[in-house]
Amino acid sequence: MTHAAITGWGKCLPPATLTNADLATIIDTNDDWIVQRTGIRERRITHVPAVQLTHVAAQRALACAGIEAGQLDLIVYGSCSADEAVPNTASGLQVLLGAKRAAAYDINTACTSFLYGLSTATALIKTGVVRTALVVGVEYISQYMDWSNRNVAVLFGDGAAAVVLQASDREEGLIGEALGCIADARQTLRVRGMGAVYGNRDVMLGDTQWDFDGQEIFKRAVHGMSEASNTVLAKCGKTIADIDLLVPHQANLRIIEAVGKRIGASMDRTFLTVHKYGNMSAATVPVALVEAIEAGRVQPGNLLLMPAFGAGLTLCSHLVRWGERVTPIATSDAELPPFEGTALDLVGALRAKKEPAGRSAAGSLPSPLASSLMVPVLPR
Ligand code: ACO
Repeated sequence: MTHAAITGWGKCLPPATLTNADLATIIDTNDDWIVQRTGIRERRITHVPAVQLTHVAAQRALACAGIEAGQLDLIVYGSCSADEAVPNTASGLQVLLGAKRAAAYDINTACTSFLYGLSTATALIKTGVVRTALVVGVEYISQYMDWSNRNVAVLFGDGAAAVVLQASDREEGLIGEALGCIADARQTLRVRGMGAVYGNRDVMLGDTQWDFDGQEIFKRAVHGMSEASNTVLAKCGKTIADIDLLVPHQANLRIIEAVGKRIGASMDRTFLTVHKYGNMSAATVPVALVEAIEAGRVQPGNLLLMPAFGAGLTLCSHLVRWGERVTPIATSDAELPPFEGTALDLVGALRAKKEPAGRSAAGSLPSPLASSLMVPVLPR
């Protein structure tokens, strides 16, 4: 039987760091509240479009796997804030990488997008449709944030990571998953202003309002991630005692602790990034995975459990058997263009765009691949 080994991994975090103290200068909040209720201390804000973050992460993952972009059969772009809808953003990444023979598609299940992408790419490898795939998780949430809403503005950040999957005869890579969606709770998280339904109104990109029932999401997330984890463990004939490391979605430290308690996983077997990046939606789990490997927390043959939830409310838990290699075959020198400003400068620019005077003419739309700070306006 063919399996889909994870042979390359890479991440790209934008350099601009927005601290809780920075946030307290623009909204009514404070470091104590954010740390106590969420565990988040800071998050990153990107100065480039998401596909550029992804390009760097992908080049690092390809070097890590020791392969060229031309060898890719498939690119799966997991994101709910993709730079472009038509054409899809995966095709933009294909161009940037020069991965000419790769099929390329976007996948959006919000925060679980990377893991759902891992499922589909693994299935296509297992069934022989493709042999080599790149799966990315990336998010440019700051673009769509309502920076006047303290309920959500403190929770999210930007980032990207990618993994390379290659066909293998050994039983490694994704060995099982549980997927689900609690659609009757879909109204608990809705970003009004994102999507075609808003296209006939005078809505500009990034001019959003978030419907967000934090406490309901909290309860559903804890229950759903725990159930999905127990389901996948049972399905694969494993128990929580078999798990070497938990790499969960990181929306809130208290959610992670509550899930660990329910499924019997101690915090010393849980890898955390929430304090330094917040919730990067689709990028969260792959960035945490890359950092866990870099920190020596993933060893050859380890069993990893990755529970996650996202808007929808989508749910999943993925069980991964790590392979033999935990070090990169090679490294890439790919870097983002430098940024001299601060995260508050970037947030200030995003807020200013919401002012009517900041709106540009519909006839002069910039290419989202070429410019990060210009904002396309939907034609009326
Ligand atoms: N700063 C200061 N005070 C605040 C803030 C803030 N940023 N936000 C809320 N408060 C206040 C509230 O107004 C309230 O004040 P009151 O008691 O005077 O009314 C008080 O703090 C408590 O607010 P709660 O909403 O009860 O706080 P709670 O402990 O439930 O924490 C939180 C809120 C962090 C949002 C939590 O419910 C949570 O983490 N929910 C899940 C969030 C989540 O997972 N988001 C991502 C989902 S999306 C995804 O991953 C796809």
